[in-house]
Amino acid sequence: MGAQPLIDTAKALMAEGKGLLAMDESMGTISSRFEKEGITNTVENRRAYRELIVTTPGIGDCLSGAILFDETVHQSTKDGIPFIEVLERAGVIPGIKVDEGAVDMAGFPGEKITRGLDNLRERLAEYRGMRLRFAKWRAVITIGKGIPSEGCIHANTHALARYAALCQEAGIVPIVEPEVLMEGDHDLETCFTVTQSVQRALFVQLEDQRVDLRGLILKPNMILPGLESATQASTDEVARATVLCLLGAVPQAVAGVAFLSGGQSPQMATEHLNAMHVQYGKLLPWPLTFSFSRAIQDPELHFWKGKPENVKEAQQILHNRMLLNDLARKGEYTPELEKEYV
Ligand code: G3H
Repeated sequence: MGAQPLIDTAKALMAEGKGLLAMDESMGTISSRFEKEGITNTVENRRAYRELIVTTPGIGDCLSGAILFDETVHQSTKDGIPFIEVLERAGVIPGIKVDEGAVDMAGFPGEKITRGLDNLRERLAEYRGMRLRFAKWRAVITIGKGIPSEGCIHANTHALARYAALCQEAGIVPIVEPEVLMEGDHDLETCFTVTQSVQRALFVQLEDQRVDLRGLILKPNMILPGLESATQASTDEVARATVLCLLGAVPQAVAGVAFLSGGQSPQMATEHLNAMHVQYGKLLPWPLTFSFSRAIQDPELHFWKGKPENVKEAQQILHNRMLLNDLARKGEYTPELEKEYV
């Protein structure tokens, strides 16, 4: 396949005023999110939850793409319409998380390596046959005493690049997600330094693996102090550090940048994205948008509680959160809108 279809899909995913929803929680993750809300983790509850999301009225006006989990791409609404088709009809591009999770890295205490390269070519061919047009792979980098190590950064960025090359071979746009975790007491500067060195290492690996950056989206963390840090940062400091980090590491050819939320509150994640657009929007060589999971879904999951009678209102809450992020993506969000929309 030539490069153009990949470039077109990447452009469509970065469409003006829209963003992505990561509704791709693995079994372990969805189980802990359900447990927190007192929802039993059954196949039917997971299916009902994903139906609530994909059938949210107006979803296509807010989202360019939705990242699904393997189980979800095989599921349908209670009326028998496959979720992939529901999204397509709404104008949302369906994608798939293809990594198989992060596990302890042998010989590197406290660090993780992401699994999933074995048989990836075959899995991608199957997913492309199911009309999934983009994919996601998440690498996890931890900041701590003496870590991250060069070895961990190298292994994870190499795996991301090999995944990206296989995606493009299959006609699938890769989203590469090197997530520097918020856990820890590190300061903003440390997050900046680590994130930038990981991103720089990633683009060296992507070049080595001959990945076409025009058909690729970067999904990074924002630059934030650790959750247990004594000094927190203002919205403007986060926006500035995040944009400077990207400018120093991300080649202009990349189709776009779609942030993860990483454990920020929904409002905080929205505010940070908005500030980046207000202050630097016109200076950036690539479009910036959201690809949040928790920062979009948490309020609606909390309201839903697994009860059919809560579906309509939960969908409204979800829609409002997506709209606020759409506004942030245009630099038009204000915290006052929270009252209006929540
Ligand atoms: O892999 C993680 C998701 O893609 C983003 O999730 O926004 O909750 O950090 P998050």
